[in-house]
Amino acid sequence: MALLTQAPKGTQDVLPQESYKWQYVEQLTMEIAKLYGFQEMRVPTFEHTELFNRSVGDTTDVVQKEMYTFLDKGNRSITLRPEGTAGMARAAIQNGLLNGALPVKVSYNVSCFRYEKPQAGRLREFHQFGAEVYGSDSPACDAEVIAMVHEIFDTLGVKDLTLELNSIGCPTCRAEYHKALIAYFKAHQEKLCETCLGRLEKNPMRILDCKSPVCAEIAKDAPKVLDYICDDCKSHFEGLKNRLDSLKIPYIINPNIVRGLDYYTKTVFEFVTNSIGAQGTVCGGGRYDGMIEQLGGPKLAGIGFAMGLERLIKVMEASGAEFPQRTPCTIYIGSIGEEASVKAFALVNELRKEGFYAECDTVGRSVKAQMKYADKLGCQFSCILGDNELAAGKALVKNMSTGETKEVAFDDLVDFIYDEQVSVITCGIEQANITEEK
Ligand code: HAM
Repeated sequence: MALLTQAPKGTQDVLPQESYKWQYVEQLTMEIAKLYGFQEMRVPTFEHTELFNRSVGDTTDVVQKEMYTFLDKGNRSITLRPEGTAGMARAAIQNGLLNGALPVKVSYNVSCFRYEKPQAGRLREFHQFGAEVYGSDSPACDAEVIAMVHEIFDTLGVKDLTLELNSIGCPTCRAEYHKALIAYFKAHQEKLCETCLGRLEKNPMRILDCKSPVCAEIAKDAPKVLDYICDDCKSHFEGLKNRLDSLKIPYIINPNIVRGLDYYTKTVFEFVTNSIGAQGTVCGGGRYDGMIEQLGGPKLAGIGFAMGLERLIKVMEASGAEFPQRTPCTIYIGSIGEEASVKAFALVNELRKEGFYAECDTVGRSVKAQMKYADKLGCQFSCILGDNELAAGKALVKNMSTGETKEVAFDDLVDFIYDEQVSVITCGIEQANITEEK
């Protein structure tokens, strides 16, 4: 029975009393992205497994251990997306988006799936807001993307986030760096954990990211990537820093940021916080200049980021950020008897068409219970229709906070509500009602 009433481990329900926070965050991130020229793209939840093997990389933890992969009934290997970047790139290539004017900028809100050990801030199904830019290898583009993330956090009222930057170089200079890392870690290999031993030859940079205290201690003195990057990568990194400085966006250089996905080149970055527990990386991103070509697309640079919405909402709460109030019910129109109930239903419908949140009885409650319910909804106004009101064509409308009452003709009810300047609902977010909008 528990299987019927328990969600799978690592998943989370967003309850009605919390969903307004999600709507706010999803809407605002997309709105800000529009100011930076991004347009939403939607792609399937699952892709061919090969897409993630190729892009995310088959030496990564995500591909090796965390993907939800299954054979479909046609015997194809299918994977629920563990992140958004690969599917976006696939869709951009497949639909010829990269053949027109560049850069192409896309944004997305997606659910992602990773079979990780669930803990606070780490889920098996989670949600990302992300954005990708295709077709610019300029550091101006890195700066633009990072400035947008900074602006989003700022607008949402997030505090105590640090931007950490690094450059992991291009394939040419990284080859030299890998050699130096392998030599360094080989000298300590008897102390490395099992996982890092496996990473030593194939992906030595991932050892820098290991959470085991022994490996972390060894990694402290490992060669630093910024000492190995070529002149081109160095000047790219300088170009980015100059632009962030010009916008007064604070950052620290963290040479241990390597990111957990294989496609990155040059710039990598994370926005981290200490205020939401161990899983403090709210946003991660970077450049991936070889990935589009590797997937069979044109030779185009790429850069992007994704922020986890569960972590974003947590850090907003920890920052005391304000979420817009849930829209309260404007008016409850109660009724006594069938005829009055039909009239109440019609009036409520009329008000809803005007953008007001209105309610009437759909349960068959007593008048007393209807009023109790209206109170629970936090209605701004209420009235009761009975035989007398129907005969007179008007009702006594009560302002629930002041207790004042006013007789209002049914035909004037919409005008009355407008004149009272109560809120209307626009795209799910409450806005002040403006009389001229009538
Ligand atoms: P990522 O660092 O793997 O990067 O994930 C981005 C964000 O998703 C993380 O910073 C975190 O907030 C959230 N996240 C990741 N895993 C979990 C989880 N198990 N539970 C809850 N939240 C999680 C990417 O996914 C890249 N695609 C970002 C990117 C876009 N790079 C370039 N373009």
